[in-house]
Amino acid sequence: MKIAIIGTGYVGLVTGACLAKFGHEVICIDRNEDKINLLKKGEAPFFEPGLEELLSNPNLSFDLDFDKADIVMCCVGTPSDSGGNVDLKAVNDVIEKHASKGEFFVMKSTVPLGTCSKIDHPNVVMNPEFLRQGSAIKDTLEPDRIVVGTESAQSQQMMQNLYEPFDAPIIFTDLITAELSKYAANAYLATKISFINEFANFCESKGADFRKLQQSLKYDTRIGPEFLEAGVGFGGSCLPKDLTAILSQSDKNDFHVLRGADKANKIQKQKIVEKLKSQMALKGRKIGILGLSFKPNTDDMRDAPSIEIINALKEEGANVACYDPQGKSEHNTCQNPYEACDDSDALLILTEWEEFRGIDLKKARRLMKGDTLIDGRNIYDPDEVRAAGFNYLGIGL
Ligand code: UGA
Repeated sequence: MKIAIIGTGYVGLVTGACLAKFGHEVICIDRNEDKINLLKKGEAPFFEPGLEELLSNPNLSFDLDFDKADIVMCCVGTPSDSGGNVDLKAVNDVIEKHASKGEFFVMKSTVPLGTCSKIDHPNVVMNPEFLRQGSAIKDTLEPDRIVVGTESAQSQQMMQNLYEPFDAPIIFTDLITAELSKYAANAYLATKISFINEFANFCESKGADFRKLQQSLKYDTRIGPEFLEAGVGFGGSCLPKDLTAILSQSDKNDFHVLRGADKANKIQKQKIVEKLKSQMALKGRKIGILGLSFKPNTDDMRDAPSIEIINALKEEGANVACYDPQGKSEHNTCQNPYEACDDSDALLILTEWEEFRGIDLKKARRLMKGDTLIDGRNIYDPDEVRAAGFNYLGIGL
């Protein structure tokens, strides 16, 4: 099939590259000429493991526009506007300019309830995306499930054929339920993270063993082992935005749990600064920071907890020296983890990059002026860090 993908962000580019791998003729469209030129040279406009290798597929092409396709897929962003509502400008542009060029119009962008049923096209499909940054290719090629919302039998058959090679259950439903299934999944994940963060904080205040508590939850198959890592709060371009979006579409008497998860996350991002302040006055201190991106294996800084944390540290009069293997931030000025440690009064771990697990803790301690290490992602064994001469504080540890 000839598939036109509109929008070359994470969802668009990864979906396009994966569908091309299955033999479809895929054209990726973006109005940003610089991005298209980069892609034509085989370079990805962002860091995502395994993506660049898939871009050299001859089935895959890149352009600013196209004439006709069997399927047009909308993969543009739906950011929050200043009032917390979903900004549908990019989606509406796609519908207006490109929907009529395809026999089928597939919405992959996360859109508010009721958006798809208003599209004037005989074959509209809502097919939400559940991929994570950092493992986007694997998530796309091996999805847990595929959700297809459509009210046309022809579209249902086409989607069944498109996803034939994927070994995953397909849930066919109506448009609004498919739209909601995306919000519900991200809202649940956000809630799970806020839940574990609050239990970590509670363990700390009561002197309970958080690692053992975590284990006792993870072995319960009804709860499951994933998304139970305590930390500095969830960030990224999706969980915070989608939580805000579902709340903005609801009545104030709906979703008490989600409102709590959102509030808990805002508080969690400040906890690490409070922890540091409990150890030292911050004015004039140099704080080394390892990790800026919102999660490992991405250079994405959107809604990264590090942004708020660094701002709070600066407001308290501290200076920062930061290192991240990829994070696209003005603060990412150190060449390696040890440079961030050099002469620092304290060290904060804000992203769990694999590289940080292997650093020489004794060397890090020797380079530092102070001895405080706050492990905002619980990546270290507290005993090992203490043995290297640090005053160790984790999240719940
Ligand atoms: C999230 C969802 O996991 C995807 O299913 C969804 O498709 C995507 O949003 C989207 O809507 O496009 P993503 O934002 O890439 O994916 O990253 P996650 O792995 O969900 O992590 C989000 C945040 O939660 C990160 O800041 C991460 O550090 C934090 N997190 C995650 C924790 O603090 N603890 C955990 O146990 C897991």
